[in-house]
Amino acid sequence: MEVALLRRIACTVNGVQREAEVEPRQLLVYFLRETLGLTGTNVGCDTSSCGACTVLVDGKSVKSCTMLAVQADGTAITTIEGLASDGQLHPLQEAFRQHHALQCGYCTPGMIMAGLGLINEGADMSDEAVRLGLEGNLCRCTGYQNIVKAIQDAAGKLRGASAPASAGTGTGTAGMQGGS
Ligand code: FES
Ligand code: FES
Repeated sequence: MEVALLRRIACTVNGVQREAEVEPRQLLVYFLRETLGLTGTNVGCDTSSCGACTVLVDGKSVKSCTMLAVQADGTAITTIEGLASDGQLHPLQEAFRQHHALQCGYCTPGMIMAGLGLINEGADMSDEAVRLGLEGNLCRCTGYQNIVKAIQDAAGKLRGASAPASAGTGTGTAGMQGGS
């Protein structure tokens, strides 16, 4: 007797519509890495402690080892592979490069996606607030200082550039983008 254990899900990943049959127990991080082959999202702990697996789900940062793939049905997901375009690094990736905000790089995809989540939600960009916002993301190499600087720098550029066209950062946080 054959039992159908798979569930069909459909979601948008980095702007591309994807559909797949997944086991109900499959974690989103393994759906991204193993089913879709998007291995830029790392697994550091599998227990929701390190943040290496952070992606954006409907614009909000989520540790993808804490979410089932079936829960992502109908969502729009952005992974680190979805940031650069036309051969150009995303401003946050460029800021990480300029500020030397990585060493081994293992935490970096998760740090960048978590940082982008903070920028998207209009978070305060003071040192303290950025550090608090990154409390779920661990780095064993850098000491965090340059990661904070990179996110603050990119926030200034992204918020400044998007002010006329994009919603979401206009109220409550105007004037707080400088941080440093
Ligand atoms: S692998 Fe998801 S938090 Fe560590
Ligand atoms: S750069 Fe190595 S863990 Fe962050």
